[in-house]
Amino acid sequence: MSVEVKTKRVTTRDIRARKGAEPLVVLTAYTAPIARLLDPHCDVLLVGDSLGMVVYGMDTTLGVTLEMMINHGRAVVKSSSHACVVVDMPFGSYQESREQAFRNCARLMIESGCAAVKLEGGRELADTIHFLTERGVPVMAHIGLKPQAVHTVGGFRAQGRIEAEADAIRADARAITEAGAFAVVVEGTVEPVARALSAEIAIPTIGIGASAACDGQVLVIDDVLGLFDDFTPKFVKRYADLRPAITQAVEAYAAEVRARRFPGPEHCFGMPKP
Ligand code: KIV
Repeated sequence: MSVEVKTKRVTTRDIRARKGAEPLVVLTAYTAPIARLLDPHCDVLLVGDSLGMVVYGMDTTLGVTLEMMINHGRAVVKSSSHACVVVDMPFGSYQESREQAFRNCARLMIESGCAAVKLEGGRELADTIHFLTERGVPVMAHIGLKPQAVHTVGGFRAQGRIEAEADAIRADARAITEAGAFAVVVEGTVEPVARALSAEIAIPTIGIGASAACDGQVLVIDDVLGLFDDFTPKFVKRYADLRPAITQAVEAYAAEVRARRFPGPEHCFGMPKP
């Protein structure tokens, strides 16, 4: 007799409690098959709005809609059972007012089933984060390099090199912590600043291009697998190079089709043997 052992899904409280403990493993996931593969290995699956660039071929994340995030979030929640699923709020869906933010976050959580949302912003969002967390919306914040602000900061460049910038990022980290965020992504931030703010605040910092001084790391899964090469930031380490394998498989398929050697149903997986 086989006994099914149900594991409990990681909660936002579990994530919060990992401050200073075992580093948090976070990867982006946008689809059901990838979510199934990553789920046992990750503490958090992040349905990032990077999907605009990675899945939809956009130049920035600005064109991503709430509907896209709901649909991809639902697929990832449905295809995972272990990791805490956090979904990005897209540009324009939360910056206008705390009421707008609550309305859209509630819709995202209800329709996708995710456990938490991620918002890009620091001090300017502290009031909104407080409003949301008081009303049952767990928030992961995102400070340092904020891709949704690419046009105001003039491109994707490392943050915190000058003193005023470093002070601003540390003030952002303190503000979102006091407002009630359970964790914070720190992106593209120089090591001394990431280290200082990680030591200063009581919630886990999850770095991306922000050194090993953070409480965890996040990467875009397509970068990890070597699938996305339109734009690869310098800090990204590839753990596999799947593009040649995919090209090889597609070439083999195309050659068989052209040679009329394509197998009949008797060779297909799952077909009963005659
Ligand atoms: O959109 C995203 O995938 C992100 C991560 C890279 C942190 O925000």
